[in-house]
Amino acid sequence: MTGHGHVHPQGENDAAEMFEPQSWEERYSGEERIWSGNPNPQLVAEVAGLTPGTALDVGCGEGGDVIWLARQGWRVTGADFSANGLARAARHADEAGVADVTDWWQVDARTFAADGRTYDLVTTHFLHPPDQGMVQVTRRLADAVAPGGHLLVVGHAPADVFTQLTAAKRRAMFLAEDLLPGLPDTFHVLVAEQRPRTMTHDGESVAVHDSTLLARRRT
Ligand SMILES: C[S@@+](CC[C@H](N)C(=O)[O-])C[C@H]1O[C@@H](n2cnc3c(N)ncnc32)[C@H](O)[C@@H]1O
Repeated sequence: MTGHGHVHPQGENDAAEMFEPQSWEERYSGEERIWSGNPNPQLVAEVAGLTPGTALDVGCGEGGDVIWLARQGWRVTGADFSANGLARAARHADEAGVADVTDWWQVDARTFAADGRTYDLVTTHFLHPPDQGMVQVTRRLADAVAPGGHLLVVGHAPADVFTQLTAAKRRAMFLAEDLLPGLPDTFHVLVAEQRPRTMTHDGESVAVHDSTLLARRRT
């Protein structure tokens, strides 16, 4: 992800909190950037060739992917359940000179409802709700894709490097294929695979896989 590479041992309570907005509000309350600001590699790989239109990035964090999309010509809504995260993202977008083509939506992906809003691209990176919640989230996000538009869902595949995380956090990781039950049959699957990537863990490079689902809604 945009600088995603810190894996620390955790207790079950810490892990449970990581699924709720409060812990993210605290993480985003300081001054220090958490993520690198660089776009996620699977986003760049899959979206660089698409014709820009409207995009929604759910779990946008500090806005690295939103800013990259805006620079590619997309009109982008960044969504996250953390108000502090969104405030940071808006500040970064302003500094990057893309404030006029970005807006922000505070919403919980687990209860998100498109309510008739549609986007040419709906994307999410490293959102890991507990208890296989990503299948339901995929269904909700699919609802927000315009006919002919794309849905890109990327997350961590389970890996040895994550063994010191709690069972709850490890269960929240998924394979791309796990999400297929959440995809309406109006979608055509273009990519459903685990892609190798290198991330930094305790100062060392480790090999991980990004679970990557790309689907296109039929026109
Ligand atoms: C691991 S960070 C990834 C941030 C960004 N997508 C990136 O790749 O740099 C996960 C983000 O998802 C947000 N988040 C976690 N659970 C969420 C939920 N249920 N609804 C909305 N946002 C959520 C957190 O606030 C955080 O900003």
